[in-house]
Amino acid sequence: MVFDVVIIGAGAAGLMCAAQAGYAGKRVLVLDHANKAGKKILMSGGGRCNFTNMDTAPHHFYSQNPHFCISALKRYRPEHFVELVERHGLEYVEKAPGQLFCADSAKEMVRLLLTECEWASAEVSLNTRIERVERCGEAMRLQTSRGKIDAGMLVVATGGLSIPTLGASGFGYELARQFGLEVLPTRPGLVPLTLSDTWKARASALSGVSVPVAVHHGGYRFEEPLLFTHRGLSGPSMLQISSVWEPGEALTIDLLPHSEARELLLTARQETPKRLLSTWLGEHFPKRLAQALIEWYPEGQTQIPLAQVSNEVVDTWAERLNGWTLKPSGTEGWRTAEVTMGGVDTDAISSKTFEVKGLPQLRFIGEVLDVTGRLGGYNFQWAWASGVACAQAL
Ligand code: FDA
Repeated sequence: MVFDVVIIGAGAAGLMCAAQAGYAGKRVLVLDHANKAGKKILMSGGGRCNFTNMDTAPHHFYSQNPHFCISALKRYRPEHFVELVERHGLEYVEKAPGQLFCADSAKEMVRLLLTECEWASAEVSLNTRIERVERCGEAMRLQTSRGKIDAGMLVVATGGLSIPTLGASGFGYELARQFGLEVLPTRPGLVPLTLSDTWKARASALSGVSVPVAVHHGGYRFEEPLLFTHRGLSGPSMLQISSVWEPGEALTIDLLPHSEARELLLTARQETPKRLLSTWLGEHFPKRLAQALIEWYPEGQTQIPLAQVSNEVVDTWAERLNGWTLKPSGTEGWRTAEVTMGGVDTDAISSKTFEVKGLPQLRFIGEVLDVTGRLGGYNFQWAWASGVACAQAL
């Protein structure tokens, strides 16, 4: 079998690239070892796929080379993808500012992409194992469970390592190494954090409690909800910070992100001197968390009227509430991570065409590259934009 373009990976980036290349008149084949296309899309956004973010900008992405994503993101913008979604009559909702989700189900997004491939005459072959890839003059040759395939151009869109049960594999990284590219260290991103010992037990007791917080770490600040879980901390704020957190480091969590706890406490002491500190805590936090704070800090003078609470204790509470510091023991790992930090080093890749410099018949797109978005639809926007940019240059 001979194709102009063979794409490994029938995920977001691969399918988008396939359709665009097909429309450009190329003979396209997409190969995937999974039994279904777009498995991650189906799982995404709680089953409703947060397919883009209207505010997408390069600073929403992590990469050793922060400039790499600029060109593709500029050429294929969220409005372009929304246009495609509307052309297919797919209904969507803006659940949070800029974050667009399928109104009904992520299945519709996979259907859209497969329809695009069909209209563009791009073939999709599932349940196909790729055994070997080699350069064959100006082309590429693949040995697969379906036989030998020759490709004028090979596009690697195998994604990252997160959630192996959805088809994730390190195959893209192996290919990159085989052709002399560097793969930057990978680690799970957008992943819940775990705690150990006392703090694990404390979080577990609060499992299901969600509070608005601002988490700070390494110059980053994310103001979004925190969710206590049986094993530690999750919710958007923790997923966001997990992408910039390294084992052994501590996080600072502001439990009152819009207030100075010290000012609030001093005012309360003056205006309602008879009120107990425990009552004050109950007014500012969900009941279970307020109760937990009282238990965690027995020295906190919570059962005496505010008038008798010393300045020193006020300062201690203020520090704790605006700057609760704790050290996660780890993350939930690849099993639940939404993305992979690191990946194929973009230094060896053209940001215009996504070809490997010096080997234009080999290209890498999507999450397999060292470009990782924050939470909020940015990762799909990168998949679409890199897929389109690559296809336009085929
Ligand atoms: P993707 O992972 O989509 O596709 C890779 C494909 O390659 C897969 O089909 C896989 O089977 C195939 N493959 C891998 N190894 C292979 C091999 N050896 N041989 C053949 N095929 C192989 N992002 C976002 O913007 N909004 C959201 O709402 C979410 N939500 C979300 C939830 C969950 C649970 C996860 C895990 C992830 C998200 N994401 C997200 C992230 C988003 O899903 C991710 O960034 C994109 O799917 C990446 O697209 P790619 O096409 O690069 O890889």
